[in-house]
Order: sequence, then structure tokens, then C-alpha cells
Amino acid sequence: MGVSVDTALVDALLKSAPRPEKAERAAEPAAPVQVRRGSKTVSDWANEARAAAKSAKTLDALADAIRAFDGSPLKAACEQAVVFDGVPGSSLMVIGEGPGAEEDRRGLPFVGKAGQLLDKMLAAIGRSRTDNTFITNVNYWRPQGNRNPEADELAVCRPFVDRMIELVQPKLIIAAGGVPAVSLLASKDGIMKLRGNEYAYSTPDGFKAPMIPILHPAYLLRRPQDKSRAWRDLMLIEKRLTELS
Ligand code: URA
Repeated sequence: MGVSVDTALVDALLKSAPRPEKAERAAEPAAPVQVRRGSKTVSDWANEARAAAKSAKTLDALADAIRAFDGSPLKAACEQAVVFDGVPGSSLMVIGEGPGAEEDRRGLPFVGKAGQLLDKMLAAIGRSRTDNTFITNVNYWRPQGNRNPEADELAVCRPFVDRMIELVQPKLIIAAGGVPAVSLLASKDGIMKLRGNEYAYSTPDGFKAPMIPILHPAYLLRRPQDKSRAWRDLMLIEKRLTELS
């Protein structure tokens, strides 16, 4: 599905989604979001992102373009852009929600408590970010306080996300949590309905890969009773990766 982003719809859907990192971020004070848009609209910034993403021919060039991009209002208030980790060209790509405090400090995705659980989940199916998995997010800059990224913040990152998928060329994509699942699939359903099912994802330029949403590892830290669901989803992912290789 080459999806054009309906930011109002995604915003409404995301506002009803639980914040997975709550447990991890509970100690943080809520702080006002600093909006830095200048005279440009969200669609101006998304167009700028699209042009920058398109001209990036390698993942390193894309990472530089993301770091240089000024269209996210979150950029001013965080340490750095958190772009990707793992092995370029991996058959498995994991896309999460966005950096938390630890990721912002270290500049790498999924390195806090939730990331440690994600590493264990991947290890259970023979996958790791050092060998055969690529990890990124739908938003590259840490939101202040304890909140989901807004639809506008996701919309300006989206061309970079799609270009990253095209450069990695994964055989299968995991959407880790409600925010990436709902926004990438432009779905009216929440993560509980989406998880464990396979969807056909396609970038606007036509790269296609199956996408399987899973429960976010931070959610599983708060609700370990749901780990059996996560396990079932991982078994499906392992089976599909075998079939697709
Ligand atoms: N949660 C995410 O979704 N992504 C990260 O990089 C860290 C925590």
C-alpha cells in the first residue's frame, strides 16, 4: 500500500493508543513541546524530507540527511537524532516508535530496558542487531515528557522511513508497538487487533515487504501476562522468515 498520510486520522488514532514506554519514563517530568516550524507548513517539511530522502543513495547518506533535517519540532529539545542500528541488508527490519531517554543519550534505538527485552525477543528466533537484524523507528527525535509522537511529527519523518526500507530491502518488517503499526498501515484498528497478522506494506516508490505488528516490548514489561501473545507473534515471524528466505 503506497500510503499518503492522513495526519488528522493518524493523530486521532495515536491519541487513543497507550504510551508503551510509560514504565520506563515514569520519572521524567512532563515538559512543554517546543515547536520550531518557522514559516514552513508540515507539508513543506514533508516535501523537503522527501527530496532529501530520495537523493540519499546509501544508509549513511540517509542518516546524514536525517541529522541535517530541521523539520521536526522535537529536534530543538533533544540531544540528537536516533537513526538506526544493526546490519544493513538484513532480511528482518524492526521499526519502533521513537527514542526514549537512554536512546537520546546514546544515539541508538532500543538500548533502554525495552530495547533489552527486544534483544531477548529477537534472540529467541535467532536474530540480533549484530548479525542479521536492522532496527529503526518511525520518529527520530525524542519527545519531551511522557507522550506519543504527534501525527505531524511522524509525517515529516515518513519519507525517511520509507527510503530506509528501500535501502535495507528487508524480506519482512516488524512494526514494534501501536504507534508504528497504526501510522505505517494507516489503520483504524489498534495494536491488539493488528498484532500477529501479516500486512502487505509498500513504499510510495513501490518497494514491497510483508509487515507483522507485535506488542511493544515496553508494554510487555508492564504486562508480562501478555508475553504468550508476543511469543506466538515471534513464532509466526520466524516461520515467515524461513519461508521468505
Ligand atoms: N522504544 C521504541 O519504540 N524505540 C526505541 O528506540 C526505544 C524505545
